[in-house]
Amino acid sequence: MLSKKEKDLIKEIWERLTPVAAEIGADALLRMFASYPGTKTYFSHLDISPNSSHLLSHGKKIVLAIAEGAQDISQLTVTLAPLQTLHAYQLRVDPRNFKLLSHSMLVSLACYLGDEFTPVAHAAMDKYLSAFAAVLAEKYR
Ligand code: HEM
Repeated sequence: MLSKKEKDLIKEIWERLTPVAAEIGADALLRMFASYPGTKTYFSHLDISPNSSHLLSHGKKIVLAIAEGAQDISQLTVTLAPLQTLHAYQLRVDPRNFKLLSHSMLVSLACYLGDEFTPVAHAAMDKYLSAFAAVLAEKYR
C-alpha cells in the first residue's frame, strides 16, 4: 500500500515527466523489447526502431496513461478500466507482460532522474507501477 506521502510524490514525479513523455516511454519500450524480445510480437504492425515516430507516439501514450493514473491512485481501477478492456479483449496481451513493461519503466526512470530517484522515490514508484500492472491484469481472471 502507498502512503499519502508516497502518492503525492508519485503524482509530482509524473507531472514533471509529462513534457518528456515520448522520450521516457520510448526508452522504456526499447528496454522491454531488448530484455524480453517476445514482447515485440505485439507490435509487428508498428515501426518500433529507435527514434521512429510510432515508437515515440506509443511511448508518449503509455507515459500519459501512467501519469493520469497517478493523479488519483485510489481510483486506479476506474481510471484504467478502458485500458484493461483494450489489452485483455482486443489486443489479448498476455498479462505476464505488464510486469515486464513496469520494470523497464522503473529502469528508464532511474536513468532519467539520476540522483532525484532517491531510495524513497524508487520504493514508492516500484509499488505504484506494480499496482498499475496488477490492475491491467485483473480482467483476465
Ligand atoms: C496500446 C498503455 C502494457 C501492448 C496502449 C495504449 C495505451 C497503453 C495508453 C493506447 C490506447 C489507445 O490508443 O487508446 C499501456 C500501459 C502499460 C501497457 C500503461 C503497462 C504499464 C502493454 C504491454 C504490451 C502492450 C506489456 C505488450 C507487450 C499494446 C499494444 C497496443 C497498446 C499492441 C496497441 C498499439 C497500437 O496499435 O497503436 N497501451 N500498455 N501494452 N498496448 Fe499497452
